[in-house]
Amino acid sequence: MARKDYIQGILLSFILFCVRCVDCENVATGTNYTLKSAITGPIELGDWKHNGNLVVEWDIKTGFLEWYRFQDRAKLNLANGDLSVVLEKNDNGVFKAQFQVQGVLQYFERTIKVIDPVTKPKVTCEQNGLDITLKCAVDDPVQALFTWSGPDGFSHVGDSVQITRKQNDDSIYYCSAKNEESVMSAEFKLKDCISEDCENVATGTNYTLKSAITGPIELGDWRYNGNLVVEWDIKTGFLEWYRFQDRAQLNLANGDLSVVLEKNDSGVFKAQFQVNRVLQYFERTIKVIDPVTKPKVTCEENDQGIKLICSLVPPVEAEFKWTGPNGFSDVGNTTQIDRNQNDDSVYYCSVKNEVSEESAELNPKDCFGKGPNEINIGAVVGGIIATLGFMGLVVTSVFIHKKKGYSGGARGKESTPTGGKQPQSNSHSPDDEVNLPLSQDAPNQIV
Ligand SMILES: *[C@@H]1O[C@H](CO)[C@@H](O)[C@H](O)[C@H]1NC(C)=O
Ligand SMILES: *[C@@H]1O[C@H](CO)[C@@H](O)[C@H](O)[C@H]1NC(C)=O
Ligand SMILES: *[C@@H]1O[C@H](CO)[C@@H](O)[C@H](O)[C@H]1NC(C)=O
Ligand SMILES: *[C@@H]1O[C@H](CO)[C@@H](O)[C@H](O)[C@H]1NC(C)=O
Repeated sequence: MARKDYIQGILLSFILFCVRCVDCENVATGTNYTLKSAITGPIELGDWKHNGNLVVEWDIKTGFLEWYRFQDRAKLNLANGDLSVVLEKNDNGVFKAQFQVQGVLQYFERTIKVIDPVTKPKVTCEQNGLDITLKCAVDDPVQALFTWSGPDGFSHVGDSVQITRKQNDDSIYYCSAKNEESVMSAEFKLKDCISEDCENVATGTNYTLKSAITGPIELGDWRYNGNLVVEWDIKTGFLEWYRFQDRAQLNLANGDLSVVLEKNDSGVFKAQFQVNRVLQYFERTIKVIDPVTKPKVTCEENDQGIKLICSLVPPVEAEFKWTGPNGFSDVGNTTQIDRNQNDDSVYYCSVKNEVSEESAELNPKDCFGKGPNEINIGAVVGGIIATLGFMGLVVTSVFIHKKKGYSGGARGKESTPTGGKQPQSNSHSPDDEVNLPLSQDAPNQIV
C-alpha cells in the first residue's frame, strides 16, 4: 500500500517536474507576463506570433500597427519590441517574434506553460478503528504533488497516507501541495478525526453497529468499553449475552449488533470475528446525546425595543439561531428586535445540537404588555384595587359613622380578599388550572 503510494508520488513528481520543455517558462494563470526579446538597436519593423498565428505586426516608418489577437490584454513596447500579455489558462504554446534592425532580421522564441497556482489544500480523514487515512486535496483542476510531514520525522509522498493512531493522540500532520508555480500547505490535528469519527447518536435510537465483515462468521464477540456484551460460536451453537440483552439484537449472519441506546451508553464498541479462521476487528466510538426539545420563545419589551428569548426545558447545550423578515438573522439564546406595532412578521428560533434540530416561532405583536410592562400593568391593577379598597374603606367608614353599629374587625376582612385575589387569578395560565386538581388528588391516592 505505502509502496504503491510512494511509486505514484515519484511518477507524479516526474510528470510535474522532470518532463519540462527546454527554454520553457511556467507562468501562473493571470500573470502579466512580458516577453523580453533583448534586441539591441532600433527596431524598424517586426511581428509577434503565438503558435504560428499573428498576434501583432508593425512598421515604424509607415506608422502601420495591426493587432490580430490578445489586443484587449496585451501591450506592445515599440521601442524595444517587448510584448506583455496577461496570460489565460489556454495560452500555452510558443511565442515567436521577428524584428528588423538596420535591415537585418533578428528572431526570438519562448515557450510558455500557463499553470494555475495551487489552492490551499484540504485535509480530510477516515477512521477505521485505530487506522486513520488522511487525504489531501486541492481544488480542481490543479494538479499538484502532495507531501506529508508529521511527528518524529514522519514524511510521505502522495495524496493520501495511512497512519495508526495511538491512545489520546494529539499529533499534527501537515500536507503541502506543490506545483511549478506555488506551494500551499495545511495542517491537520489527529484529534479532529477522532471526534469526527465518533458517531453522535440520539438517546433512544435503535443503533446498528455494522461491521461490514465479508464471509461467514464462525465465531465472534462484541465488547463495550472492554466488557463482553455477547459472544457466540456458530459450530457449537453457543451464544451468551453479558449485557444489553433486553435492548439489543445480534445478527448472526453478518455480526451486526443493534442496541437501543440509553443516555449512559457513550463509549467504545469493539468486535472481533473469526472468518475462515482469520480474525477480523471492528471498532466504533458512540456518543449518546439527548435530542433537543421544542424550544419556547418568549419576549420582553425594553427600552431598545423587544427582546426575544428562546429557551429549552430542560436546558440542553445547543446552538440557537434566529431568523426573521428581511433577512434578519442572529445567534444566541436571546435577540433584540425593533419595536414595530403594526408588524405582522414572524420570527423563528431554531435550536440544534449534534443529533437533532427543533424550531419555534413568535409574532412580536404578541409581546406587547409582556415583560417589564407586565409588572407595570400589575402595579396599575394593584393601584386601582388599592384605590377601590381605600374608597371602600371611606364609604364603609362613612356608612359606619352613619350606622354606628359595626365593629372595626369586619372592615379588614372585606378589603383584603378583593385586593389579594385579583392579580393572582390574572397570572394563572390554563395549565395551572389543570394541575391544581391533580395535585389535590395525589394525597388522596396515598391515603
Ligand atoms: C502589463 O505590463 C506592461 C509592462 O509592464 C504594462 O505596460 C501594462 O499596462 C500591464 N498590463 C496590465 C493589464 O496590467
Ligand atoms: C432494532 O433494529 C434491529 C435491526 O434492524 C431489529 O432487528 C430490532 O428488532 C430493532 N429493535 C427494536 C427494539 O426496535
Ligand atoms: C446506565 O443506566 C442503566 C439504567 O438506565 C443502569 O442499569 C446502568 O447501570 C448504567 N450504567 C452505567 C455505566 O452507569
Ligand atoms: C442563555 O444562555 C446563557 C449562557 O449560555 C445562560 O446562562 C442562560 O440561562 C440562557 N438563557 C435562557 C433563557 O435559556
